[in-house]
Amino acid sequence: MRPTIDATPLAHSLPLVQPALIDPSAAPASSASAASSATLSPTIPSVLFVDQSGQLGGAEFALLQLAGSCIARSEVVLLSDGPFRARLETLGARVQVLNDARVSGIVRQASGSNCLRVVPGILRQVRAIAARARKFDVLFLNTQKALVLGALGKPLHRKPVIWYQHDILTREHFGRVQLSVIKWLVRLAVDHVVANSQASKRSLIALTGIAADSVPVIYNGVDADAFKRIDDSDIATLRRRLGLPEHAWLAGLFGRLAPWKGQHIALEAMARLPGVHLVLVGAPLFGEDAYAQRLHEQAEALGVADRVRFAGFQDDVPVWMKAMDVILHTSTEPEPFGRVIVEGMAAARPVIAAAAGGVTEIVRHRRNGWLVKPGDVAALADAIGALRDDPALAQRLANQALADAQTEFSVDQYLQRMMQAIGRAAR
Ligand code: UDP
Ligand code: GLC
Repeated sequence: MRPTIDATPLAHSLPLVQPALIDPSAAPASSASAASSATLSPTIPSVLFVDQSGQLGGAEFALLQLAGSCIARSEVVLLSDGPFRARLETLGARVQVLNDARVSGIVRQASGSNCLRVVPGILRQVRAIAARARKFDVLFLNTQKALVLGALGKPLHRKPVIWYQHDILTREHFGRVQLSVIKWLVRLAVDHVVANSQASKRSLIALTGIAADSVPVIYNGVDADAFKRIDDSDIATLRRRLGLPEHAWLAGLFGRLAPWKGQHIALEAMARLPGVHLVLVGAPLFGEDAYAQRLHEQAEALGVADRVRFAGFQDDVPVWMKAMDVILHTSTEPEPFGRVIVEGMAAARPVIAAAAGGVTEIVRHRRNGWLVKPGDVAALADAIGALRDDPALAQRLANQALADAQTEFSVDQYLQRMMQAIGRAAR
């Protein structure tokens, strides 16, 4: 989870532009004509997407694929600037940044008084989003802050609102005020919610009491072809290119550096596994620099620093994943979905994942991966050891993982189901 009221990868999951979903005759609208629904084909709704982040996290990769598949009929509003904007623009998406530094400052555990100080800024953003939304058929909100600002403006724009829920809505992750705001906005101003996993959906139903059958679950899609394109027949060469040890046994942990992503658990496991090397791919995206610093200190203190590589944020995740022997997922709190897990599967690598949240909807223990109790260092170290010592087992899990990633988490399925949900919202 990210600091909500502020908040997150590439072209490795190159968004597929689905000819069937795009009206070929609709030329990219200029900002002026921007998708006036009257001028666009009546069959395909025009969509204003809103996301709070300029950074590249899982929710933003999911939106990159979706917005990239319907550039002619959509626009993206970002509530802060960053590398996400350039990624969207590279795909031809029209992007507007509506930044308000004070509103961006509200954090996940926002208090009432905190919120009061930023009311004028909030109102400005609500009005600005509503003014854009009026030109589109559907308003698609992709993050928590987008939900708040987009749904509050419903009386102004009167457009159908769809929210892609990427988080598990519990007190572990959110403040009381925030949960209450989400609850009432969903009840009063959101027409459709799509959840990224059954686990996320369960938390929504428990919070809001809305009907379970009104909330479809649409899993993120991962582009398995991007992984297939990488030639890993000579893994030593691949590793040399990345500056990784060519002959070591390598565990890779992908994701932003944040306490609940549990990189510290992986470091502790390394202390029990002489000979195994760990590569941490990712950066602190939302102000978790102190945690990143602590990880470096922890690696030194544990005496594993010479076997741990901090690779920073990488754009080419498929290449980095293919260079690994095993992919780890170590979140200490329930992971709402976990794109990195499906990516590890698409890379045809055995994945060890923390069994909570949406993860158990993806990984079946010893069938297509390995599940461990979240935060259990001994179990993680045992699992890594077991896969290192039994390459045939590791290969069997990886083969099944690849098959499951392709059939259950394809980008095509994701886009089709999303476009159906958007179509329903527009009706
Ligand atoms: N990622 C990336 N480069 C990095 C680290 C992560 O592109 O250096 C991507 C990763 O491939 C995945 C996303 O960031 O697509 C993280 O999404 P996930 O759902 O796993 O976690 P989130 O950060 O959204 O909670
Ligand atoms: C959020 C969740 C992550 C999920 C991603 C895409 O960032 O933390 O678990 O994979 O959204 O839905």
